[in-house]
Amino acid sequence: MSSTLPGIPDIDAQLADRVLERLGVIEDELRAAVSTSDDMMQWTARHLMDAGGKRVRPMLVLLAASFGDVRAPAVVDAAVLVELTHLASLYHDDVMDSAPTRRGADSAHTLWGNNVAILTGDFLFARASSLSARIGAQAVALHSATFERLCMGQLHETVGPAEGDDPFEHYISVLSDKTASLLALAGHLGALVGGAGEDVADIMRRYGEKVGVAFQLADDVLDLESDAATSGKTPGIDLREGVPTMPTLLVRRRAAEQQDPVAHAIVDRLDQDLSDDAALHELVELLRQDPALEQTRDLAQRTATEAVEILAELPAGPVRDALTTFTRTLVQRRR
Ligand code: IPE
Ligand code: IPE
Ligand code: MG
Ligand code: MG
Repeated sequence: MSSTLPGIPDIDAQLADRVLERLGVIEDELRAAVSTSDDMMQWTARHLMDAGGKRVRPMLVLLAASFGDVRAPAVVDAAVLVELTHLASLYHDDVMDSAPTRRGADSAHTLWGNNVAILTGDFLFARASSLSARIGAQAVALHSATFERLCMGQLHETVGPAEGDDPFEHYISVLSDKTASLLALAGHLGALVGGAGEDVADIMRRYGEKVGVAFQLADDVLDLESDAATSGKTPGIDLREGVPTMPTLLVRRRAAEQQDPVAHAIVDRLDQDLSDDAALHELVELLRQDPALEQTRDLAQRTATEAVEILAELPAGPVRDALTTFTRTLVQRRR
């Protein structure tokens, strides 16, 4: 018998039941983890949590833990830990990207200003750290190493490639650090706390690292392709902020190598002021019709296929099958 999990169709019914039950517990524990007697912090910390989100990272913790015992006590802590870390990074990211909306809601800095948004992110990191301490020393070490990579990824995105660096290599290393590091932690820690063993944990870490790159490439496509009502984010934000993404890197390379009038027109616009909504919209439309978008989608799919190949090293069965389906949904998503 097959069943469905949020975003993952056709998975083993028993596995789905077990994971669904744990997802419910995680929702309660997420709220408990940010509870504080400070009304202001409680309000701002609950803002994005309550606005929704796909809970991709907790799902990955639960699937990885399912190679052992998904009901092991530290599994919920690990799932809450990764989601809190993700949430914290979103508060900070929206300040850095000047993003007006997130999860269909006004972003925190729009509502309360940069200082409150940054401090709320810091508060969430603090609460995540207390959970890692509860799990144990290995979790503290893995979490802090991930947190460091996340900061480095955001820093290297901000400063761009150094003179002589290959922009594509730089870009993939940014994706790995800012996004894939946390999916790798979810897979790795999930397997460890579920008692699935070091070998499975290592495979899940490598899988998370690969699927994380595919996931962020799909996000680059969504920034251009998806409308705000579906993605909950403002389209074209990366362009306005001058954040290089795979589609824009591909267009820039075409413009540098070929007499391609469309590529040159796009690059001209990329380098202009995009604070005006109409100018941004026009550029988004040009990019939507450009082959660079399809090339990025293809690259996301190929990277997802490489992630599925890593899964082949895991024991065959319903958990591996669910992870395979999960991988596909992560790159085919619309939000
Ligand atoms: C958004 O992550 C930030 C990225 C790393 C791409 P998600 O797409 O998982 O965001 P939510 O949690 O569903 O809002
Ligand atoms: C998000 O990167 C990565 C982190 C939050 C660490 P982006 O800036 O590309 O993601 P979105 O599109 O705002 O979700
Ligand atoms: Mg952003
Ligand atoms: Mg960003």
